[in-house]
Amino acid sequence: MAETFKALRVTDRVYWVGAIDWNVRNFHGYLTQRGSTYNAYLVLADKVTLVDTVKAPFFDEMMARIASVVDPQKIEVIISNHAEMDHSGSLPRTIQALKPTAVYASKSGVNALEAHFHTDGKITSVADGQQLDLGDETVTFAETKMCHWPDSMVSYLHKDQLLFSQDGFGMHLATAELFADEVTPSVLQYEARKYYANILLPLSKFVIRMLDKLETLNLPLQILAPDHGPIYRRQEDIQWILGAYRCWATQEPTRRAVVVYDTMWGSTGRMAHLIQEGLTQEGAEAKVMPIAGCHRSDIATELLQAGALIVGSPTINNVMFPTVADVLTYIRGLRPKNMVAAAFGSFGWGGEAVKQVHDILVDMGLEVIGDGLKVKYVPDESALDKCRQLGADVARQMATKTAQHA
Ligand code: FEO
Repeated sequence: MAETFKALRVTDRVYWVGAIDWNVRNFHGYLTQRGSTYNAYLVLADKVTLVDTVKAPFFDEMMARIASVVDPQKIEVIISNHAEMDHSGSLPRTIQALKPTAVYASKSGVNALEAHFHTDGKITSVADGQQLDLGDETVTFAETKMCHWPDSMVSYLHKDQLLFSQDGFGMHLATAELFADEVTPSVLQYEARKYYANILLPLSKFVIRMLDKLETLNLPLQILAPDHGPIYRRQEDIQWILGAYRCWATQEPTRRAVVVYDTMWGSTGRMAHLIQEGLTQEGAEAKVMPIAGCHRSDIATELLQAGALIVGSPTINNVMFPTVADVLTYIRGLRPKNMVAAAFGSFGWGGEAVKQVHDILVDMGLEVIGDGLKVKYVPDESALDKCRQLGADVARQMATKTAQHA
């Protein structure tokens, strides 16, 4: 028997009509180990309104959920808060099926949707701060550029005091629970942090602008409804995620180091463990992450609240290990800041990898300690001492930075 897709009640007039993607594990390079949701919302105002849609393969699921509470043909208005295809993929089919009176997006959103779907003038742009009358409800639009794309905006329902925040405050978490307070807190907090680290970290200055804008608008907020993951309905949860975003966006220095490495015959791995000893002995926290057992997006998650990144690579054919290059390319794009860094690795002939890693860390704008610690083949006692010393040096520099920011 086929699944019965039902709308889920958020408030008396707002229903969740999105899709649960239990299977997705790769979200443009991010390991979504708990799947995701694409949240679309139905507003049963005088003018029935659909806020965002779902990824294209989930069109039928969304339509079935809508049909469980209202005849879909009654939808007059569609709001597209964000043009990325996890939210807009079903938009062309939805417009074709429902023939709404109007489809609204930000000015950049209109351009982005046109470039994706060649919408031929079917989308109307709304300005920052513009209000839309839905009869017995009013929506205000607020642009939140670069949270996540240039087109991003949020939509606020005045009577319900509900903010549709699109990617902001979301997480990749497939769950049957609709509300954040129904999810195990450690899972909720981890997935929110992982989402921020992997999606929004490089855009942190725009996140701060968004948070400042929301504070200035001073909209009473009873419900915070993102486009991924559960919905926030308790004040304590809303305040938690708003505060966490400001903390993550600010990236204050910490005394926690992430040691990332791959190893060919075990020597770079030994170096990593001795660097960890040096960090720990000097009072720092250390997280050792062998790339063979850690996904790049989990490393990024650990970096979010780290004060140091220490990267080790053996040299193979005059270059760094491809696995290390993968992680460094990914992390570099996420632009972590306020961090100490160092490079290390074992080599047999030229040892070029350590310099390559070192140069990337410098290019990332991190405060790099030393010129890169290289060991020929297998570290002896003296080399292992140097590894401990490097860990201790990084720990001391983290302590100095945290003291300066205190
Ligand atoms: Fe969930 Fe930027 O899309």
